[in-house]
Amino acid sequence: MSENHTYQPSANQLAAKEHGWSALFTEPMSDLVKRYTASVFFDQRLWRADIAGSRAHAHMLHTVGILSAEDEAAIQRGLQQISEEIESGVFEWQLDLEDVHLNIEARLTALIGDAGKRLHTGRSRNDQVATDVRLWLRDEIDGIHALLLDVQTALVDVASRNIEVILPGFTHLQVAQPVSFAHHLLAYVEMFKRDAERLQDVRRRTNTLPLGAAALAGTSYPLDRALVAKTLGMVDAHGVPQICQNSLDAVSDRDFAIEFTAAASLVMVHISRLSEELIIWMSQNFGFIRIADRFTTGSSIMPQKKNPDVPELARGKTGRVVGHLMGLITLMKGQPLAYNKDNQEDKEPLFDTVDTLRDTLRIFAEMIGGQVDAQTGQRAGGITVNAAAMEQAALRGYATATDLADYLVKKGLPFRDAHETVAHAVRIAIERGVDLSELELQDLQRFNSAIEADVFEALSLRGSLNARNTLGGTAPAQIRLQIAAHQERLAARA
Ligand code: ARG
Repeated sequence: MSENHTYQPSANQLAAKEHGWSALFTEPMSDLVKRYTASVFFDQRLWRADIAGSRAHAHMLHTVGILSAEDEAAIQRGLQQISEEIESGVFEWQLDLEDVHLNIEARLTALIGDAGKRLHTGRSRNDQVATDVRLWLRDEIDGIHALLLDVQTALVDVASRNIEVILPGFTHLQVAQPVSFAHHLLAYVEMFKRDAERLQDVRRRTNTLPLGAAALAGTSYPLDRALVAKTLGMVDAHGVPQICQNSLDAVSDRDFAIEFTAAASLVMVHISRLSEELIIWMSQNFGFIRIADRFTTGSSIMPQKKNPDVPELARGKTGRVVGHLMGLITLMKGQPLAYNKDNQEDKEPLFDTVDTLRDTLRIFAEMIGGQVDAQTGQRAGGITVNAAAMEQAALRGYATATDLADYLVKKGLPFRDAHETVAHAVRIAIERGVDLSELELQDLQRFNSAIEADVFEALSLRGSLNARNTLGGTAPAQIRLQIAAHQERLAARA
């Protein structure tokens, strides 16, 4: 080998370079490895966030004097054009370019030349991807939050029309005490209200800027991270920029994705519980409600069937979302600092969680509350309530037995004795096949002489409901207060 040898790249090295890599590589990737490592076919959905992040980064690079005005202008122009190309579907995504970031950057350089190559100054794909996922998720959280309000609005709306409708409340799925159907629905409003609050909290930590961490250690360029945070709207309620404070943590943290998926799992668990009730309520044995035909399907063999496919699928999809939570949390458990390629696996579970949640909430808002007519503002097509069937069911199963005990306590009996006395009364009623309210006054007086004619008011479903007139109770007076409070909150979209 001659002393004055000028370096000549091998054919393999040229091939590797063509694929976007440095001369360090002596052979190209096999097609299988390319497919195995590429993420472009799923992470391309981050393109808006990727371009927003790049535009903010380029603007900042110019502001701090790293990028000339001409270069910055060319980058902004190029990225704008790429946005339009992607939007209109003419952009060519290339597997060879691995991911959304390299695809967009390569196109930018093809469009504007050297200025495109300057964009990546002071940046790494590690802080870039972390920023993209956070920006994307932040906006998705806003959409999901709005849908959670829609579902609550639908539930409150149905509740407001069913305050006086009584159904049996269950414990152990055994008839326990009568409750208002509105009260039952408002229980789910409380769940979805907490879900919305939880998502707002997740949003706060998601909306924090990793960019500027570079590969892992920060960068030697004098970047203005606060400016980038402000440009991207990564600020708190007072406009203070929210910036990841440790570069190693910034590029490797996926807590926000796990938290989001955990919050999403709880939303789905609530949806799943509601689904289970809808399915029970619309079964022939209950017949409490009907849902519109468009949310059900027929059977290919049994002509009489109308199956509650939508609530059943929602119940099933809950497992899928909880599975994504398990996937993400396991993804992180063995990772040393800082970025590892494992993190590329955060995207598909996260994307699928968002899609599942969004579709489910949209369907539920409509399935429960129907659609609002743009002209009249009236809702139509939500669940249909069979008040008579609910009330009939509440009259079976001695739902007012506790009320008889409470009645005796008010007459001076210790509660435990009253409880025992009523158990005897229920036994006799069962033997005769009648409700407690159908026993004769003389029969009831045989259990306790303090019982008078006013007992029948206590034994009635309505009397039982009205008696529970304490905060959080099922008395219609309480429910009206709750509905008014929810309506006021939801009108403010909070
Ligand atoms: N596609 C990668 C991901 O989703 C981008 C970051 C790649 N960084 C790297 N050093 N290979 O995580």
